[in-house]
Amino acid sequence: MKPEACFAFSLLLCILSFVVGVLVSGGGDYNRSDFPVDFVFGSGTSAYQVEGAADEDGRTPSIWDTFAHAGFAHGGNGDVACDAYHKYKEDVQLMVETGLDAYRFSISWSRLIPNGRGPVNPKGLHYYNNLINELITNGIQPHVTLHNYDLPQALEDDYEGWLSRHVIKDFTNYADVCFREFGDRVKYWTTVNEPNVFAKGSYGTGISPPQRCSPPFCMIPSSKGNSTFEPYLAAHHILLAHSSAVRLYKRKYREQQHGFVGISLYTFGTVPQTNTEKDRAACERIRTFNFGWFMEPLLHGDYPNLMKENAGTRIPAFTTRESEQVKGSYDFIGIIHYSKFNVSDNSDALKTTLRDISADSGAKILGVEDILGDAEYPMAPWALQEVLETFKTLYGNPPMFIHENGQRTVSNASLQDVSRVQYLHGYIGSVLDSLRNGSNVKGYFVWSFLDAFELLDGYKSIFGLYSVDRNDPELRRYPKLSAKWYKQFLNGSRTSLVGDIELKEGSSLASLGHSFQ
Ligand SMILES: *[C@@H]1O[C@H](CO)[C@@H](O)[C@H](O)[C@H]1NC(C)=O
Ligand SMILES: *[C@@H]1O[C@H](CO)[C@@H](O)[C@H](O)[C@H]1NC(C)=O
Ligand SMILES: *[C@@H]1O[C@H](CO)[C@@H](O)[C@H](O)[C@H]1NC(C)=O
Ligand SMILES: *[C@@H]1O[C@H](CO)[C@@H](O)[C@H](O)[C@H]1NC(C)=O
Ligand SMILES: *[C@@H]1O[C@H](CO)[C@@H](O)[C@H](O)[C@H]1NC(C)=O
Ligand SMILES: *[C@@H]1O[C@H](CO)[C@@H](O)[C@H](O)[C@H]1NC(C)=O
Repeated sequence: MKPEACFAFSLLLCILSFVVGVLVSGGGDYNRSDFPVDFVFGSGTSAYQVEGAADEDGRTPSIWDTFAHAGFAHGGNGDVACDAYHKYKEDVQLMVETGLDAYRFSISWSRLIPNGRGPVNPKGLHYYNNLINELITNGIQPHVTLHNYDLPQALEDDYEGWLSRHVIKDFTNYADVCFREFGDRVKYWTTVNEPNVFAKGSYGTGISPPQRCSPPFCMIPSSKGNSTFEPYLAAHHILLAHSSAVRLYKRKYREQQHGFVGISLYTFGTVPQTNTEKDRAACERIRTFNFGWFMEPLLHGDYPNLMKENAGTRIPAFTTRESEQVKGSYDFIGIIHYSKFNVSDNSDALKTTLRDISADSGAKILGVEDILGDAEYPMAPWALQEVLETFKTLYGNPPMFIHENGQRTVSNASLQDVSRVQYLHGYIGSVLDSLRNGSNVKGYFVWSFLDAFELLDGYKSIFGLYSVDRNDPELRRYPKLSAKWYKQFLNGSRTSLVGDIELKEGSSLASLGHSFQ
């Protein structure tokens, strides 16, 4: 062949392999062996959402118990939840059957250390040791989160929780207990779950515990708080507490335990509301205010300039020592991802003097109401790819675990959760595409393992691979189509065969003869 012909031929090959690549992954079919051998697949829950036994064996309430009991989760609460406190062995067996490599769960701070500080509760310690041992014995890696919206209520009452610097010391002591007691078996620690939405929701709009906000920014009425600066202050203390726990781990435990400590952040895809430069710039600002808020301090030791400019003195400043402690204080980043939003320019908001964090961004997220409803999430796997690409190019491509991703359905939906299968299929495929394009993703956790008590939805809508029958005093669990699909994928099957699975599993699903109200 002449050199030009040879070039044309390899170009053709290149185009062909690209098209085939798109067909195989984006277009539908892939299987587990397309992922690196050490890529971890799991599923997750959190303490208050599944444990139940809320006032058993010495546990005291967290701010989440208080929130739920005040009726903000559609009247539901986590008093019983899935009773995982008593049924953990059965649940671990379901994980084994599903073929999970790993289980992501959280420790209830107020179960382990009632009132948040002081002596360790031996029964709390016993429970988490049992759970961890059960997982390890069955070959399932524990990935543990320390704070998931559930600060001990006692610390909220004593000193307003995350608004006070006292929390840094108490959180570090709590982390110390966890590393000391469980770190011989737990290698993956997440300090705080999605602090970026926790700070905004809990101190800005008041929609999550401890429900602080001030007019006109409240989405639910609250008698205390100040939305203009409390989200920044809470986030600041979370970064300091997080980095203090990481420093402790490095100094005291890393050498013997060889584990990893990270933090997880809530992410979403952004779509410019109109195809204009203004709306595209608004998308950039939203990304900065959403996760740049945490990633830039973690990478460079300081908040993004844009945030400092727009929030002025309302955003706290790091001292030199703090900045050095925060900088580089992570081994991995957890990515929480469900959806995408349209974003539009709102730079006029910057002209007002009384501003919250949302006004400071000069951008508006549209359709947030959808999150508060019970609609299913739109299928937009590209949005997760966009997020992973942003972490790759702007934030140094850290090791990442997809800590949460999953589809919401109404609680009376059928066990034939085809939309959840389609969602997981699309998003796991997009993780594969990102991996192939150089993203440093190490694992993926479906949210959630069981139908759990959800923060805003209560029991009104659900995410589980396994259904929990709440009308049954035994709270029996039943696999959904998605559990069967995930199991087959984890065992090496191709994934595009939703229809096949339905056919194959149809009879056994029907034979359960069980309907959910
Ligand atoms: C899984 O994917 C690999 C590589 O893409 C392929 O060689 C193999 O045949 C696939 N396995 C199944 C069961 O489809
Ligand atoms: C919140 O704080 C700002 C700035 O300190 C102040 O101007 C505003 O009056 C406060 N609002 C409330 C409701 O306390
Ligand atoms: C979101 O933006 C797209 C264009 O990018 C538009 O077609 C769609 O109608 C918008 N959706 C909403 C809810 O505004
Ligand atoms: C679930 O319940 C709602 C309200 O009672 C009803 O409108 C809907 O049709 C039910 N869905 C299913 C799948 O049964
Ligand atoms: C793949 O990575 C390159 C380099 O970072 C980037 O330019 C490109 O947009 C990425 N592709 C996708 C689909 O994210
Ligand atoms: C996994 O797949 C193999 C065949 O590829 C089969 O023999 C085995 O029973 C499957 N395991 C489970 C747990 O389904």
